[in-house]
Amino acid sequence: MTDMRFSDLDPHTRILLGPGPGMAAPRVVRAMATPPVGHLDPDLLAIYAEEQELLRYVFQTRNEWTFALSGTGTSGMEAALSNLIEPGDDVLVAVIGYFGERLAEIAARQGANVDRISKNLGEIFSVEEIETALKQKVYKIFSFVQAETSTGAEQLHVKEIAEAAHKQGALVVMDTVTSLGSIPLKVDEWGVDVAYSASQKGLGAPSGLAPITVNARAQETIEKRIKPVSSFYLDLKLYANYWNGAHAYHHTASASLHYALREALRMIYEEGLENVHNRMRTNAEQLWRGLEAIDVVPFIPLEYRLPPLTTAQVPAGVDPHKVRAQLLNEYNIEIAAGFGSLKDQVWRIGLMGYSSRKENITLFLAALEELLG
Ligand SMILES: Cc1ncc(COP(=O)(O)O)c(C=O)c1O
Repeated sequence: MTDMRFSDLDPHTRILLGPGPGMAAPRVVRAMATPPVGHLDPDLLAIYAEEQELLRYVFQTRNEWTFALSGTGTSGMEAALSNLIEPGDDVLVAVIGYFGERLAEIAARQGANVDRISKNLGEIFSVEEIETALKQKVYKIFSFVQAETSTGAEQLHVKEIAEAAHKQGALVVMDTVTSLGSIPLKVDEWGVDVAYSASQKGLGAPSGLAPITVNARAQETIEKRIKPVSSFYLDLKLYANYWNGAHAYHHTASASLHYALREALRMIYEEGLENVHNRMRTNAEQLWRGLEAIDVVPFIPLEYRLPPLTTAQVPAGVDPHKVRAQLLNEYNIEIAAGFGSLKDQVWRIGLMGYSSRKENITLFLAALEELLG
């Protein structure tokens, strides 16, 4: 007799409008179903070379060290910080939300002396504020998040901030987990020394890979380390040897995830990066107009509001968590609650990757209007 304890795999088909993952296009999902080859197969190595070229395109960089790490966005954070930091190093982190806090926490776990400057949730830093903080001491690293997913704010003036950091001798590590593929981001032109991201947001692939790019200055700092990186798995020199160098075994990378990421990147390349950014913005503007029409007001001022992640203020008298559950259970639409102190005050609505489509926005707005009565 068949054992009926384990039914067929059948999760709901959801419309993912949360803070990530975004949805993956059918051709990305199909790519993932291609039978995997081994992690040293010449076909996979050729795919890495193309993936690198495409990643350089989305990061807008010529950096030799540009890879997709096996792991989610947090592995990119850990790799960036653990490869650059040696115990006792001074690190400055500019915190505008939860993910800035995570950067500070990871830097501290690497043995750095971490100073943090913070803003109220929903605010961003001016260049002058960061300049002043950078003058407190000689920092080895200055780190911040470009697109803070916990609040929906974009830290503007990246080029000027990076210039200020370099003037004081600090390397710039920027989190681009929610910005890559969604909003303009120019690693070389802006002088960002290390940027890392994730496959499941603006790039439109499933989660599991963390793109990272490291410029020559940061690479040199890593190569001159006194002590080896404490994490073998995230050691970027070993990655460089696997991807660019002797192609020596480092770990058994998932060919399936790389198939998906390469396909998602190919879609961006076909459409053109600038066109993708414009589409993301136009779609977000449709969402913002629609929300305002039903008196759901965006939390972040337009000047630095993020197209891939909108925080929308919950109208008075509405239970945000009940509405969120109804959206999921009655409409198969996922959105998220606010973070930390904003938990009961805002919803977080994402338009990331393949989720950013007009039909999703129209359906979501209609569903929300119906639920709010
Ligand atoms: C800005 C930012 N940084 C880092 C992360 C961590 O990425 P992951 O959850 O893929 O590990 C996230 C995830 O939402 C994020 O939004």
